[in-house]
Amino acid sequence: MTEDLVDSRPKEVESETSSDDAGPPTADEFFKSPDFYKNAQQYWSRIDPTIDGMLGGLSIIDTTDVNGSARFLNQLFKMKPAPGTTRALDCGAGIGRVTKNLLMNYFKTVDLVEQDENFVRKAHDYLSTNDQLNEKIGTIHNVGLQDFTLTDNTYDVIWCQWVLGHLTDEDLGAFFKRCTAGLTKNGCIIIKENFTSTNDFCIDATDSSVTRSLRVTKTILESANLRIVKICKQDNFIQGLFPVYSIACKPNRRIQ
Ligand SMILES: C[S@@+](CC[C@H](N)C(=O)[O-])C[C@H]1O[C@@H](n2cnc3c(N)ncnc32)[C@H](O)[C@@H]1O
Repeated sequence: MTEDLVDSRPKEVESETSSDDAGPPTADEFFKSPDFYKNAQQYWSRIDPTIDGMLGGLSIIDTTDVNGSARFLNQLFKMKPAPGTTRALDCGAGIGRVTKNLLMNYFKTVDLVEQDENFVRKAHDYLSTNDQLNEKIGTIHNVGLQDFTLTDNTYDVIWCQWVLGHLTDEDLGAFFKRCTAGLTKNGCIIIKENFTSTNDFCIDATDSSVTRSLRVTKTILESANLRIVKICKQDNFIQGLFPVYSIACKPNRRIQ
């Protein structure tokens, strides 16, 4: 068994999907499917709005994940120049697991983007106390990242976790460019995703997502004029999961 089939949630190596007789589609064929986004929507609409649902049944890794992310953010804030702490955006936020356990501890305001309306409803509850939405929560946008537009110069950190495999390469590059415009001075985009351990590109038809290699991801980042300022492999996940890296990126300075 190879490590090459991963998707947009933490996943065990064993959950590889089998290909049909015609062989698996290429990445381009997969992205060109008119149902690429619809299939993902349908997949997530059947998933429980719980931590377990967000983590593909692996809620056991929640604390380790959040602790690893906190260490990463702490180190990032020690770098010069560090991002501000005024506003963050949680992309593919699900019910708000990352917002509640991580981002709200660092930022005055957190906005969320999530395509599934059931998760958005649940996020309102999950991020509320006594029916009152936590005062740190700004706007919860119910839209896919491929269609999401950001207000310029707004976010100190844009956090994308276990979601970018749901965007085509083209839409991901375009999304990164919109994120760049949405960053404040010294702002960062942080991606925390599964990566293949080879240079291969893997497809998961079950939830309609892809897993990219670090090499392909770096190419997409570069094409969006982003440079990596920090990269760190998540440790202490249970055995058998695919490699997860946190990557912080900043826009290259424009050449005058
Ligand atoms: C594996 S869950 C991760 C949720 C959250 N980031 C976390 O780590 O707890 C993936 C989330 O991405 C959302 N998603 C899938 N495709 C998306 C898209 N095109 N735009 C925005 N969100 C998307 C799903 O609805 C789901 O909430």
